Amino acid sequence: MGHASVPGLVPDPFAVPPPDDGSPGRLLKALAARGISRRRFLQWCSAMTAVMALPKDYAPRIAHALENGKKPVMVWLEFQDCAGNTESMLRTTHPSIEDIVLDVLSLEYHETIMAGSGARAEAVLERVRTESKGEYILVIEGAIPTAEGGIYCTVGGRTALQIAQEMSADAALVIAVGACAWDGGFVSQGPTGAVGVQAAVNPKVLINLGGCPHNSANTAAVLVHYLTFGEAPALDQFNRPLFAYGHLIHDQCERRAHFDAGRYVEQWGDNGHRNGWCLYKMGCKGPAATYNCPIVRWNDGTGWPIGAGHGCIACASPNFWSAMSPFYDRLPDVKMIGVDTTAQTIGLVAIGAVAAATAIHGVGAVARNVRKNAAVKGDGTVVMEDAPPHDEPGSTPAGQA
Ligand code: SF4
Ligand code: F3S
Repeated sequence: MGHASVPGLVPDPFAVPPPDDGSPGRLLKALAARGISRRRFLQWCSAMTAVMALPKDYAPRIAHALENGKKPVMVWLEFQDCAGNTESMLRTTHPSIEDIVLDVLSLEYHETIMAGSGARAEAVLERVRTESKGEYILVIEGAIPTAEGGIYCTVGGRTALQIAQEMSADAALVIAVGACAWDGGFVSQGPTGAVGVQAAVNPKVLINLGGCPHNSANTAAVLVHYLTFGEAPALDQFNRPLFAYGHLIHDQCERRAHFDAGRYVEQWGDNGHRNGWCLYKMGCKGPAATYNCPIVRWNDGTGWPIGAGHGCIACASPNFWSAMSPFYDRLPDVKMIGVDTTAQTIGLVAIGAVAAATAIHGVGAVARNVRKNAAVKGDGTVVMEDAPPHDEPGSTPAGQA
């Protein structure tokens, strides 16, 4: 993909860089050149506070930091993957990550979209590493093969493992985007010994943006947080930002009222499906998955999987390709999942239950359980009280469970 086809990105390392003297108004001038007004920019800053769950009064502070801060260097490395996370970033529209965040940052290297190639491109990477040592932001997409010395993925004669080790050692911040960069994802099931960034290089400051693909609204929010406050946002036990991965999809889902009322899709295309009923029986993993996709959504905020009529496959959960499949099987015992349960409290317990359970419990039990109070155990996991009798409102009619 050439530079000309993705205006706004800064992929051509050989182009004469625009003047960047840090002068006030630099960002606004750059945005104005693309028809983005200051008003629209401020609206975007306000939207960022919403994504990060910050009070709206932080918007001016964010705007000030982006307008007046130093322009940091960013490098995007892509290893064993499908390029879906790059696609996710490029598919955003105006004003978007490429319009605003990438006008604030200097994206010096991105193998998939940069115009340059070969030794000259690799020289750019080395220049960033030496000249911006300890200051640059490193984004890694894709898993890192480790089998046989990492020979299954090489760029410029060096293995992904070598490049990732070298570049992450000198980075100020490393962001792993997508499931493969987080924990190896789908490709970890193959013969290349692929693992995620944390297993391959374990950088000092790592933020995992799980998802298949990740949602670039969250990438923008993480970068904005870093540029505004000089540090990573609060993270969970998997190094994921709490603002994006702190709440169950089930608790944010527009179909939740149908779940609670016992109205479920029984077959694709049936009356319940046409009327937007709950997809639990069709395999939806929303009760065991966390992500902010119900809020930030996709395609310009217009849709998300459940909104489009498909159950959640928990694409932002640990090892979801194996732990959450078969994707169309109903979730087994979810008794530990409760209303307002967070990622911090369910942790791996929910994932283990999905992967290990052999008995499939009826949806009626689930509907009843979410109506009961959650009891928090000493280890932080949540256990629901015993199910009430079958005739309680919200239980599934006989024969449906
Ligand atoms: Fe939404 Fe899935 Fe929960 Fe149903 S089971 S309410 S579709 S998240
Ligand atoms: Fe992924 Fe489920 Fe959201 S599949 S995009 S976490 S609805």
